[in-house]
Amino acid sequence: MKLRHILSTQQFLDDHVLAEIFQLATEVEKKDRENNLSPVLKGKMLATIFYEPSTRTRFSFESAMQKLGGSVISTENAHNFSSAMKGESLQDTIRTVCQYADVIILRHSEEGSSEIAARFSAVPVINAGDGTGEHPTQALLDLYTIWKKFGKIASLNIAFVGDLLYGRTIHSLVYLLSLYKGIRIYFISPRQLRIPEKYKTFLNQRGVQFEERRDLGDLRDIDILYVTRTQKERFSTELEYENVKNSYIITRDILQGMKENAIIMHPLPRVTEIEENVDDDKRAVYFEQVKNGLYIRMALLQMMLT
Ligand code: CP
Repeated sequence: MKLRHILSTQQFLDDHVLAEIFQLATEVEKKDRENNLSPVLKGKMLATIFYEPSTRTRFSFESAMQKLGGSVISTENAHNFSSAMKGESLQDTIRTVCQYADVIILRHSEEGSSEIAARFSAVPVINAGDGTGEHPTQALLDLYTIWKKFGKIASLNIAFVGDLLYGRTIHSLVYLLSLYKGIRIYFISPRQLRIPEKYKTFLNQRGVQFEERRDLGDLRDIDILYVTRTQKERFSTELEYENVKNSYIITRDILQGMKENAIIMHPLPRVTEIEENVDDDKRAVYFEQVKNGLYIRMALLQMMLT
């Protein structure tokens, strides 16, 4: 299937598309491990335009493109280092960059910015995070990680912990999880950082079981503990951030009360919310998520550009 833009995971509410993406990601992973990748994107150009900081998303898209034989042009800190600094609008930047590139990867601080970009772009646009909105390719790699670990997604219990208000990866993943029968979601957050109403309304409409709570509580039945950073950059005052920043810290003691085959996920970057000595536990899969992100993005680029 040919994908045009990737703006929201709501466009993937069809299990068949996901199966195709996961199959292709599995194939490119195998070829990469065998050092046997084909340069299927030779002659194609990817542009990354990032108005917000990134390590994983930008590097993985750029790595994915180059591993498949394509080339990359890039601006990080686009507010300062692109003509945005001189007052150029997002739409004019997009109308310009699409003259040079075959696909645009956009990270921006404003929710809805990728829709604007897609409207003005002659080439596909991928939303690499639009403010507190969504981060669809992160959710795809998260779901791929869950599928690889459990061999299924249905009937799993997932607890989202931390900043559910501003955490765009959670917003995107919630849409995807609604596809699977028997999923049960626990939203664990401080009162100030609860999951926005629109996601709860969506889950109710889809008949997905969920509950909200403030304490970590009993995690014995949890299959996936998905932990997030408190998004300091979204708060209006330092004090508001300080009040909630260490609401949850995952320790080895907490893991002792969890299933042996549970997994601990995090989109990264991690600050204080998972202690570093948890990283050695076999249930911690956040750096596997990073690698899976490379393969998912390779699969997406291949599906969009060939
Ligand atoms: N997970 C994620 O989006 O990481 P970066 O901000 O480093 O791209």
